[in-house]
Amino acid sequence: MKTSKKLLVRALNGETLKTPPVWLMRQAGRYLPEYRAIRKNARNFLHFCYTPDLAVEVTLQPIRRYDFDAAIMFSDILVIPDALGQQVQFKEGEGPVLEPVRNVEHIKALSSQGVLDHLSSVFEVLSSLRKELPDDKTLIGFAGAPWTVAIYMVEGRGGTQGERARIWAYQDPQSFSSLIDLLVETTTEYLINQIDHGAEVLQLFDTWSGLLAEEQFERWVIDPTRRIIEGVHKVHPDVPIIGFAKGSGLLVEDYVRKTGVAGISLDCNVPLSWVKDVLQPRVTIQGNLDNQLLVAGGDQLEIGVQKIMANLNTGPFIFNLSHGIVPQTPPEHVARVVECIRSY
Ligand code: CP3
Repeated sequence: MKTSKKLLVRALNGETLKTPPVWLMRQAGRYLPEYRAIRKNARNFLHFCYTPDLAVEVTLQPIRRYDFDAAIMFSDILVIPDALGQQVQFKEGEGPVLEPVRNVEHIKALSSQGVLDHLSSVFEVLSSLRKELPDDKTLIGFAGAPWTVAIYMVEGRGGTQGERARIWAYQDPQSFSSLIDLLVETTTEYLINQIDHGAEVLQLFDTWSGLLAEEQFERWVIDPTRRIIEGVHKVHPDVPIIGFAKGSGLLVEDYVRKTGVAGISLDCNVPLSWVKDVLQPRVTIQGNLDNQLLVAGGDQLEIGVQKIMANLNTGPFIFNLSHGIVPQTPPEHVARVVECIRSY
């Protein structure tokens, strides 16, 4: 099937569909027994991401089980710091641990030279997926947005409020911007290569954009995102890019106007009437079922799905979550959501 005829791409090109395309952030992951079975044999998480056979297999698992409209390649946003030469580890039960970047010398020690070679297995995963995916499914590539990746690079672990990165950005914006610029440049190349290898849509994850004050949001979220999208579109003008500026509240309107995203992935703390009236006329909406309601289940889950459908399925729309699926999610709740959307 031609890419432009696929449901996800049609929605991103502004079409209102009777039944919206559906995929879920972190649709491949520990909530699935078939994922855990493969994961337990992998040496460590990064090695798992870099082993094409395994990454392809776990990408396809949720497509087989739920018939989602799109597959997101299995990888992680922290492969970029890893490829830049920063030490990155995923510790069991602890999440990512990085050798922190705290000053200009640390930034200078990073190198964008071998990044594409280092990530060649990711491109292999995409090429295989394009061959193996059912014809009507869209293949999504992704990267972390510079601000969110920089937070992990600077803090050295998850579970923070990005304090160090935020203070650095205020005290010495010039040196902080050299880190952001390096990420803009590297991420742009990385995404262009993902498209060259079969990605049909891209998503930029800016999970921690909601930590920033207005001017800082403009400088460290909107501007780098705009530059990446401009750079990608110079080479591949027709590939739609979805932005996930999580937690950014009212600032998301500016993000939509200035970055060039074709779709905006929303979390669940935005009023749906505002989304419908203000954002949806400009951009395709993706979202925004509370990922904890997906854990909770029950009647509330169906009511939640129906409320989103009633508000947002009257314009260009992609069904998704507020944030990624968590490991405690019962797999049958995911099946119910998909059924509920398709029989709406
Ligand atoms: O969505 C998908 O199915 C594709 C794969 C994907 C993963 N991570 C796999 C993963 C994607 C798109 C990501 C993005 C990602 N990674 C983000 C942005 C989105 C978000 O959720 O906020 C961030 C911040 C990361 C960084 C990261 N990776 C953290 C903080 C952790 C540890 C927390 C956790 O859930 O364990 C990871 C690990 C990770 N990335 C797992 C998966 C399936 C779990 C690790 C495992 O299986 O052992």
